[in-house]
Amino acid sequence: MLIRHRKSSDVASREITPESVYLNRRNFLSVASGAAIALTAGERSARAAGLPASGAAFANVKPGYAKLGEDDAVTPHESATTYNNYYEFAQGKDQPAKLAHTFKPLPWKVAVDGLCAKPGTLELDAFLQPHDLEERIYRLRCVEGWSMVIPWVGISLAEVVRRFEPLGSAKYLRLETVHRPEELPGQRGDMLIWPYVEGLRLDEATNPLAILAVGMYGKVLPGQSGAPIRLVVPWKYGFKSVKSIVRLSFTEEAPHNTWAIKRPDEYGFYANVNPLVDHPRHTQATERRIGDGGKFFGLIEERRPTLMLNGYEEEVAHLYSDLDLRKNF
Ligand code: MTE
Repeated sequence: MLIRHRKSSDVASREITPESVYLNRRNFLSVASGAAIALTAGERSARAAGLPASGAAFANVKPGYAKLGEDDAVTPHESATTYNNYYEFAQGKDQPAKLAHTFKPLPWKVAVDGLCAKPGTLELDAFLQPHDLEERIYRLRCVEGWSMVIPWVGISLAEVVRRFEPLGSAKYLRLETVHRPEELPGQRGDMLIWPYVEGLRLDEATNPLAILAVGMYGKVLPGQSGAPIRLVVPWKYGFKSVKSIVRLSFTEEAPHNTWAIKRPDEYGFYANVNPLVDHPRHTQATERRIGDGGKFFGLIEERRPTLMLNGYEEEVAHLYSDLDLRKNF
């Protein structure tokens, strides 16, 4: 099965999870709210409004898929958590990390609705509970022309989709970010239409590579990275990987995704990484790997060729065999 595939060049999960204290999935909410392990239900809910504790790490994370090339070093944690796109905070890459303290990722509920047999609104721990946490080390390629290699901790989106039993008429999954202008200053402006929305075809959502991440580098996701739960679809440009998800909806029609609404001439629904199709303002033939040049804010990283489907052709190219990817960008 794809997600077990590893090469000798792959990065072992223990090499990128240095924390000495490990907590298991059942302690997720306790960890995320900065509480100790053995809390009563009352104590847990009382603390659930707090912010994620930095340094809180997961245990019982199964090593998962990590097909990396020789020159795919894991991006330094510092770079991945201080160079972010999260317009609900602000536009500057360094701003989400500086403003994330305003955002309360817990308590959190996820609603699942639309064309499915088992809709419902679940507390985050109930939403995660049936699923195994896996580590997935993926390349992340932004349409702006930069990339990273990030070790995520997440659950299989395919399993989540199957659990809520989509009806035969369901063809797409729509994913929606939280809308809280009081905590997310960017949402007080009109840079984008809020809430941020993304979508996948159901066969994309059930591809084994697609995950919902709740952690990175073995630890709970920080606010700027999409706490407490975000999508990761590594063969697509980063803007598809919607952050801080509150709603999953099964639909018959393709959801109108935020960037395609904002600039339909520049962004489409598919957003598959494709070095042969340039964005009007950014070449897609090459990319710069954040962290390659040492201090990424100072030096310009050397550009490297961008891989078709971000290097995941073997896993996902069959999904697009009957599509013209120049038209369906
Ligand atoms: N999700 C929301 N809700 N808001 C955003 O602004 N930015 C997207 C995506 N998900 C974004 C979002 C873009 S453009 C990218 S490249 C990735 O998140 C960046 O993820 P990272 O900051 O963890 O690297």
